[in-house]
Amino acid sequence: MIIKATRDSIAQAALHLKQGRLVAFPTETVYGLGANALDSKAVASIFAMKQRPSFDPLIVHISSLSQLWELVTSRDERIRSLTQHFWPGPLTLVLPKSDIVPNIVTSGLPDVAVRMPANETALQLIEAAGFPLAAPSANRFGRLSPTRAQHVEKQLPDLELIIDGGPCAIGLESSVVRLEADGFRILRHGAITASMLSEVIPPSVLTPAHILPDASPGLMLSHYSPETKLYIVGQHPVPRDTSNAAFIGLRPSEIKGYHSVRFLSDNGNLEEAAGNLFVFLHELEEAGLDFIVAEAVPETGLGIAIMDRLRKAAFRFHQ
Ligand code: TXA
Ligand code: MG
Repeated sequence: MIIKATRDSIAQAALHLKQGRLVAFPTETVYGLGANALDSKAVASIFAMKQRPSFDPLIVHISSLSQLWELVTSRDERIRSLTQHFWPGPLTLVLPKSDIVPNIVTSGLPDVAVRMPANETALQLIEAAGFPLAAPSANRFGRLSPTRAQHVEKQLPDLELIIDGGPCAIGLESSVVRLEADGFRILRHGAITASMLSEVIPPSVLTPAHILPDASPGLMLSHYSPETKLYIVGQHPVPRDTSNAAFIGLRPSEIKGYHSVRFLSDNGNLEEAAGNLFVFLHELEEAGLDFIVAEAVPETGLGIAIMDRLRKAAFRFHQ
C-alpha cells in the first residue's frame, strides 16, 4: 500500500520496522526497500521479497555520523573528509564492518556499505526507527530501479507499506566507493564522480567495477533491465522496422519512424538526463512496444553512470 510521507505515516512505518517488517521509502537516488539492518531475520525478508541472490550485499542507511562509527571499525582520516563533503548524499562508502553488522547484510564480506541519504523522509524514518536500515533499491532483482512510489508497487505488489515521498531528486543509484591503502575504487558509478572525489581525497587507481568481480559481488553485467528489449545506438544493430518501437535521445533532435520518441533533457544536461532515464524506461516498458532504442550519451560526469546503467539494462538482450 502507498501512503504519503507525513509525520504519522513515518511513525507508523517506524513501528513496522521495529516489528522486523519491510518498508519502502524514498531517497534522493531511488526508492529503497528497508529493514532493520541489525536484525538478520528482517534482512532475510528483503532478499526473499526481491528474489535477490544472497551473494549481493546491501547498503546500510544511517541518519547520523555516530551510527557510522558503530557499523565500521576503520577510523581512516579520509572518511571524515568524504562524509563532511558528500553526506547526506549519493555516496556509499565500503568500509571494514564491525561485529554488530550481521553477515547476511554484507553477504559474508568483511566490509559493509554505508550511506546517509539526502532525503528528509528517509532521515526521519531512520531516526524514528532508532536503528540503521539495510535497503537495496526497491525493485525485483535485476529489474529497473524505482524512482516513484508507483514503480515500487508495480514490481513488489505484496509489499505492505510504501512511503510516498514523490519523485527521487537524482533518479540514479548512489556512487559506491571503497577506500583502499593506495586510493579509492569506484565500484558503481553515480552522481559523485571520480573528479569530485579526487578534489577531496588523493587521486587513485580507477578500475571499472566489472573487471573486479570479487570487489562488489552485486555488480553484474546484466542489471537494471526493462521488460522490453533495449538497443543502444552504435553498440547493437537496430532492427529496420521501428514503427512499434521507442527512441530515447539525450537532447531534442529530429527522429522519424518511431512510435514514440523521448528526450532525456531539453538541452543535453546530464543531471536532468539521469533523473529521467529510469522514469522513461518504466513508462516505455508498459507501452507494449517491440523494442526501445537508446542513444549513447557522452561519458563525462553523470554520463558515465548513465551509460553504465544503459549497458547493463541492454546486456541480457544481446547475448
Ligand atoms: O542509491 C542507492 O544506493 C540505493 C538507495 C536505496 O540507497 N540503493 C541501492 O542498493 O542501489 P542496491 O542493493 O540496489 O545496490 C547496492 C550495491 C550492491 O549491488 C553492491 O554492488 C554494492 O552496492 N555493495 C553493497 N555492499 C557492498 C560491500 N560490502 N562490498 C562491495 N560492494 C557492496
Ligand atoms: Mg539495485
